[in-house]
Amino acid sequence: MLTCPICQTVLDLQGKTYTCQNRHSYDISKDGYVNLHIVQHKNSHHAGDTPESVQARRRFLSGGHYQPLRDEIASIINKLSPKTILDIGCGEGYYTSILADDGRQVIGLDIAKTAIITASKTYKNQDIHGGITWVVGTGVVLPVADGDMDICTSFFSPLPKAEMLRALKTGGHLLIATPAQQHLYAMREQLFGVVKPHDPTKFITQLSPEFTLIDEWCIDAPLMLDGQSLADLIDMTPYTYKAKLDRKTALKMQSDFKVTASFCIYLFKKTN
Ligand SMILES: C[S@@+](CC[C@H](N)C(=O)[O-])C[C@H]1O[C@@H](n2cnc3c(N)ncnc32)[C@H](O)[C@@H]1O
Ligand SMILES: [Zn+2]
Repeated sequence: MLTCPICQTVLDLQGKTYTCQNRHSYDISKDGYVNLHIVQHKNSHHAGDTPESVQARRRFLSGGHYQPLRDEIASIINKLSPKTILDIGCGEGYYTSILADDGRQVIGLDIAKTAIITASKTYKNQDIHGGITWVVGTGVVLPVADGDMDICTSFFSPLPKAEMLRALKTGGHLLIATPAQQHLYAMREQLFGVVKPHDPTKFITQLSPEFTLIDEWCIDAPLMLDGQSLADLIDMTPYTYKAKLDRKTALKMQSDFKVTASFCIYLFKKTN
């Protein structure tokens, strides 16, 4: 199912090593992931999340705050009954982990090595359900064969349109999650003063006409955050780089902070 990042031919798994017909080989690490991120694809502008934001996301998500989103994603995916799923920019695997099911092959792909190490350690036992293959690699050149995927997913992550079209079967689906207009409004108000609404519909425009929107869902999750969860939420988002330090520090001092997370989920079909 995976392809070689150097020559794009199919990788064959023998024991704990993936090898292509041109004898490029990639070992599965002791934690169970494979690194397909080659130096030719490395670019400092695409380094992915920092170890600090990965760990902040891990702590925050394990608190169950975004469970309503995860449940909705699981329900949508189960209705589609896919056999193969590629989760692009999977992070530490919170959503990827519920994509797995009996007989389903799931690939979790992220450019941030720390994210994939965390995912493979956290969900080590997931293999018994169906198998998640954790891959360090770039979304710019997806390490999968043409037309192999029933579904590509991207939750708050890059959307490499041409590559997703190549990877998907005819009639395949793309499921994305993105912040809704008022996402974390109260938090952004404290961090920035003036809040610019998110524009989730821009993705519908960007992905058209090659992808046709066939369904959408809105999820609101009212949150009451203690100091640690609030700090983690700030540090797992790009807001942490954009906000002024004094505003960020003041917000992190608060506890019992009320804020609503709002998401849009869009389901697209590859246009024939
Ligand atoms: C906002 S995080 C979302 C992570 C996860 N989907 C979640 O919702 O918990 C975005 C992720 O995309 C990854 N990423 C950024 N650029 C990438 C690229 N070019 N290829 C693969 N992953 C990338 C980052 O490392 C990060 O883990
Ligand atoms: Zn090769």
